[in-house]
Amino acid sequence: MNVGIDKINFYVPPYFIDMVDLAHAREVDPNKFTIGIGQDQMAVNKKTQDIVTFAMHAAKDILTKEDLQAIDMVIVGTESGIDESKASAVVLHRLLGIQPFARSFEIKEACYGATAGLQFAKAHVQANPKSKVLVVASDIARYGLASGGEPTQGVGAVAMLISADPAILQLDNDNLMLTQDIYDFWRPVGHQYPMVDGHLSNAVYIDSFKQVWQAHCEKNQRTAKDYAALSFHIPYTKMGKKALLAVFAEEEETQQERLMARYEESIVYSRRTGNLYTGSLYLGLISLLENSSSLQANDRIGLFSYGSGAVAEFFSGILVPGYEKQLAQAAHQTLLDARQKLTIAEYEAMFNETIDIDQDQSFEDDLLYSIREIKNTIRYYKEENE
Ligand code: HMG
Repeated sequence: MNVGIDKINFYVPPYFIDMVDLAHAREVDPNKFTIGIGQDQMAVNKKTQDIVTFAMHAAKDILTKEDLQAIDMVIVGTESGIDESKASAVVLHRLLGIQPFARSFEIKEACYGATAGLQFAKAHVQANPKSKVLVVASDIARYGLASGGEPTQGVGAVAMLISADPAILQLDNDNLMLTQDIYDFWRPVGHQYPMVDGHLSNAVYIDSFKQVWQAHCEKNQRTAKDYAALSFHIPYTKMGKKALLAVFAEEEETQQERLMARYEESIVYSRRTGNLYTGSLYLGLISLLENSSSLQANDRIGLFSYGSGAVAEFFSGILVPGYEKQLAQAAHQTLLDARQKLTIAEYEAMFNETIDIDQDQSFEDDLLYSIREIKNTIRYYKEENE
C-alpha cells in the first residue's frame, strides 16, 4: 500500500529581521551571515505566539471537514514544548476540531522529532488504511542575543497530513537510522537556551550524513543517480551545502552539480526564515517542490533528517503525479513577503519580552491565533472568530 505525504504547509510569524542589519549591530562583516552562514532574513515571533499557535496556522489551511473526521492521531515534533507533562498535540487536537477518538502526543529528539512522528504515522496508516495522521513540526529556535548561535535562529511550523494514496510524496521503506550519544547541542531542563558546541555540531552533522547515506545506498543498492534531489535538515543554509560537498566530492561533477542545483531550490524559504528546528527539513522539502522547475512525477527525493544529540535518518519518497497541484507557492510567497521588517532594537525588545506563566494576565493583539490569557498557569488561545 502507498502511504505518504498527502498535504503539506508551513507557517512563519509576521515579523523578520534582515541579516545585514544584524551583522552591523553585532559588528560582524555582513558576508559572514549572508555567505558564510547563508542567511538573508530571520523569522521572529511575539511572546503571544507559541508552538501551538504556529501549528494552528500551518495545519488549519490544509485540513478539510473530512480530514478532521478521518484523523485519528495528532503528533507534534518539538523541542520548544510549553509543558513538561501535557502534550501540545492535545491542545491542538481540540483547537482544530478533530474528532475525539484519536491519539495525541508529542515527540522530542532535537530537530529529529518530526521525522520520528512521520515514520510512526506511516506505520499507523499502513496498519489502518482509512486513518489519516496529522504530523506537525513546531519550534522556536533561540540561542540568545549576541550569542554565537544567534545568526542561526528562526521560528515556525510545518504541518503534514499522512494518508494512504497520498497526493504529494509516497514514502519508501528504505530508511537508514543512526544514533550516537554526543553532546553537540542540548538544553538541560530549566535552561532557556540550548548549550551548543557549534563546530562539533557541524562536524557531527556532516559525518552523520556520510554514514547514513553510504549505509542507505549499500542497503538499497542505490547511487546518487537514483535521486532527482536531496532535501536536508537546514539549521542554516550553508550547512547542507557543506555536507553535500563533503560527501559527493568523489562523485562525477554532473551529479554534484545537479544535486547542488536542487539543493539551492530547497533553501529558498530557509534563507528567509532561519532554523525551524523540527520543521527545517520539511520547509526545505516544500521549498524544493515549489521552486524547482526540473522535478517531475515519479522522481525520487532523498530526505536527510538530523537531530543533535544525535539521531540521523535518511529515507526517500517518490513524487506522485499531479503533486504540484497540492502546493501553495503563491500563498507561501505572500506569507513571506507580507511580513514586517523589524529594526534590531525592535527585535531585541520582542526577544526579551517573555510570558511569566505564574502571572495571571490577558493580551490583545491582531494575530489570528495567539495566546489571549494566562490563568492559573494555563494558556488560553484566541479561537477563530474571536
Ligand atoms: P561561528 O564561529 O560564528 O562562525 O559559528 P565561523 O567562524 O565557523 O564561520 C561560519 C562560516 O562563515 C565559515 O564558513 C566561515 O569561513 C564563513 P565555512 O568555513 O564553515 O564554510 N565566514 C565568512 N564568509 C564570507 N565572508 C566573511 C566570513 N567570515 C566568516 N567575512 C555556527 C557558526 C554555525 C557554528 C554557529 O552559528 C552556531 O553554533 N550555530 C548553532 C549550531 C548549528 O546550527 N549547528 C548546525 C549543525 S547541528 C544541527 O543542525 C542541529 C540543530 O538544528 C539543533 C537540533 O537538532 O535541535 C542546530
